[in-house]
Amino acid sequence: MINKKNVDLSTYSTAGIHSNAKIVYFPESMGDVQKLLKSMDNFIILGGGSNTLFAEEIDTPIINTALLNKIDSEKDRLVVQSGVKNSILQRIAIKNNYIDLLSIYGLPGTIGGAVKGNATLFNDMSLFKSIVSIRILDKKGRLYVIKNFSPHYRDGNINGFIYDITLSPKTNSEHFEGLLNKAKKIRKEQPKGSSLGSVFKNPKGHSAGQLIDECGLKGKRKGGVKISESHGNFFINDNNGTYKDFIYLIDIAKAAVQERFNIQLDLEVKIVEK
Ligand code: EPU
Repeated sequence: MINKKNVDLSTYSTAGIHSNAKIVYFPESMGDVQKLLKSMDNFIILGGGSNTLFAEEIDTPIINTALLNKIDSEKDRLVVQSGVKNSILQRIAIKNNYIDLLSIYGLPGTIGGAVKGNATLFNDMSLFKSIVSIRILDKKGRLYVIKNFSPHYRDGNINGFIYDITLSPKTNSEHFEGLLNKAKKIRKEQPKGSSLGSVFKNPKGHSAGQLIDECGLKGKRKGGVKISESHGNFFINDNNGTYKDFIYLIDIAKAAVQERFNIQLDLEVKIVEK
């Protein structure tokens, strides 16, 4: 197992925000993860960094899943380790017409992160439809196999360290192409540039992006970060933005939406402060 000290997390964040992590561990096996979990009271699990905003100095040890990146196929099943990138799974989906896996089309980050946050490109499709089981390790490193799930909107409702996920994806040659084109269209319309995807969850019956837009905040800038001109729920780091720039815009957007619509915006992005 590799570990690195004083790591600049900008390369581990899709928003490219600088922060210094005291130590990052890169386990390569279940044994490595168990050893880490048993030896630590407090830790942060980091996948592809597409949904986490880190403060300037992070003292809490980070466990990065990047080297848990193997995929095994068993008959009609795929066993995917949590650090496998969604882009790799997307390629497999396209090759095999695995229609349910199109839910992760174009998502940055890893399958572990997507499962944890029940991430999806489409509002009416979830990766959980093709998940057979998930192996997790608890805080003491004990192994559990979960087969029953109750995911919520942007919350997979899974506790523990996600080690691997067994998928049973369905092939659908008839409808695959149509859905793939729809996925491409949605992705094309989402803002480009370094971001953490959607900053806020959509409040019931509303689009966070539209609410922020209607407050006149699209294009609003603080330092190196701006609220995208094309979508109010994407904040883009285009000029060495900082954690504080990002937080400033989060606070401004929250306050404006609260004041104008009396609606509370809840973060989709996870903030790690120390
Ligand atoms: N809209 C505006 N102004 C904006 C942004 C959006 O008027 O600045 C309007 C759009 O024109 C549209 C409506 O708001 O009429 C909804 O916008 P959009 O289709 O962009 O969808 P969204 O609600 O912003 C949600 C998910 C996305 C998912 C798309 C699929 C959340 C927070 N966002 O976005 O998921 O891909 O639907 O259409 O649930 C994510 O969670 O990171 C994510 C990207």
